[in-house]
Amino acid sequence: MTVVAPTFDLVVAANRLPVDLVFDADGNSTWQRSPGGLVAAMDPVMRGRDAAWVGWAGEPGPAPEPFSDDGMYLQPVALSPIEVQEYYEGFSNGTLWPIYHDVIVQGSFHRTWWNTYRTVNYRFAMAIAKVAAPCATVWVHDYQLQLVPTMLRAMRPDLRIGWFDHIPFPPVELFAQLPWRRALVEGLLGADFLGFQRTADAENFLRVCGQLLGMATKGDTVTFTPTGKDLSEGRTVRASAIPISVDFKGLDALARTPEVKARAAEIRASLGNPKILMLGVDRLDYTKGIRHRLKAYGELLQDKAIAPPDVTLMQVALPSREHIDAYRQLREEVDGTVGRINGEYSAMGSPAIHYLHQGFSREEMAAMFLAADVMLVTPLRDGMNLVAKEYVACRHDLGGVLVLSEFTGAWHELHQAFICNPHDIEGLKQTIMRAIDIPEDERRRRMKALRKLVAAHDVYWWANGYLEALASAPERPHRPTRAGNEERRVAERANTFNRRASDRASEGEGSGEHRLLADMGKPPG
Ligand code: F6P
Repeated sequence: MTVVAPTFDLVVAANRLPVDLVFDADGNSTWQRSPGGLVAAMDPVMRGRDAAWVGWAGEPGPAPEPFSDDGMYLQPVALSPIEVQEYYEGFSNGTLWPIYHDVIVQGSFHRTWWNTYRTVNYRFAMAIAKVAAPCATVWVHDYQLQLVPTMLRAMRPDLRIGWFDHIPFPPVELFAQLPWRRALVEGLLGADFLGFQRTADAENFLRVCGQLLGMATKGDTVTFTPTGKDLSEGRTVRASAIPISVDFKGLDALARTPEVKARAAEIRASLGNPKILMLGVDRLDYTKGIRHRLKAYGELLQDKAIAPPDVTLMQVALPSREHIDAYRQLREEVDGTVGRINGEYSAMGSPAIHYLHQGFSREEMAAMFLAADVMLVTPLRDGMNLVAKEYVACRHDLGGVLVLSEFTGAWHELHQAFICNPHDIEGLKQTIMRAIDIPEDERRRRMKALRKLVAAHDVYWWANGYLEALASAPERPHRPTRAGNEERRVAERANTFNRRASDRASEGEGSGEHRLLADMGKPPG
């Protein structure tokens, strides 16, 4: 008897399912929420919808049977051990990830990885084609699946296909290094709408199409005629920014529960009730600027600008991609630096850094956010950084200060944060001290403005806006999907002040208002 698979009007495809199959030492398996911002964002908007999610279950080997989770149909895609190495760790995270993140580490180019990437993308396209109802909407996610839109269109021309880029899209000069640059772009152009985090990312993509590949671009669209096809068969694809966000209401409500509030107080008490608790929460990834953050923090301790138990740092580093060399090396360096700083600057019973290399539940994270006076979000490059928005969503008490790198997508919206350039250690130190010393009324004012923005542009705003843009592509939807020019100009003006303050610190023009300079008694070198 042939069992006919159910089909859906909305299908989401991402490298990972929202849950990972995890095995313990005895070989027993459980499903756990998958790591990363993509799942954190998509999970609340997909829950309860009559939709399918196609993705990998997180373990090499045969795919588990499809199953339903909270009304959503999960269709696992199998990856063999070699495919995990060549498609996931290799081409996705050893080739594309570094190129798309400013080559913080060098990208590796291997033809075998590329071939496996194509094979796996084709498998995803087949799995989607199987569960998509006639004329369904298919929403493909992220850099791991860039060939899926065109492969899927060839199988199922009836579908409306969108793709969203969760990470930055690189400038032409970096993208041009990829030996498979044309195939990657043509893979995407099977979609009707391509969504990006920032306008700059969409513009980079359109520049790649026009300048590098000679395609016809106009405004935010590109017209593409596949090789061998007649010009009249050209497709027009829209590429535009629509920044991702968080479930503001859900996080706000969670952070208001008596349990989370009590846990926040408990966390502070367990750390000795410091005057200032600083917090970093990141996947342990070289793009997150953890080394730079620790350097700045270590120097502030050395300068005696701060000291435990009054000031302490809690750094959560979520284990990530541990089989890739660059990640192993990062872990060794971070472990070593944390050990050195703690060895030199901890007081008895008061470590300078509380370092947690593990994942935590949503409730525990909300409690940590609520407990922290200063949130350090200092990536060297990040598509968005949802941790910054999660922190804001949890601070219903208007407590807390956000220090935010200008190299995150979040900076383009959260202009009431303290901006920093994480490469500029002196400037970063100054910014941290400004955040510590912030007067209460200014802190409340800034947090209020940040919360207003995240509340208005939450993850439902993002998902609905994306789906509307996809439905009307290549035409724009009626509703605006990105900040208007004037809104952006206002944001940029507000940020100029912060940027100047940060730059002045490094250029030796500090105003003298900061304890750090006063204590050092000399301008920073
Ligand atoms: O957004 C970047 C991203 O790669 C997502 O696709 C993913 O959910 C997250 O980071 C975590 O990465 P990984 O799935 O490789 O653990």
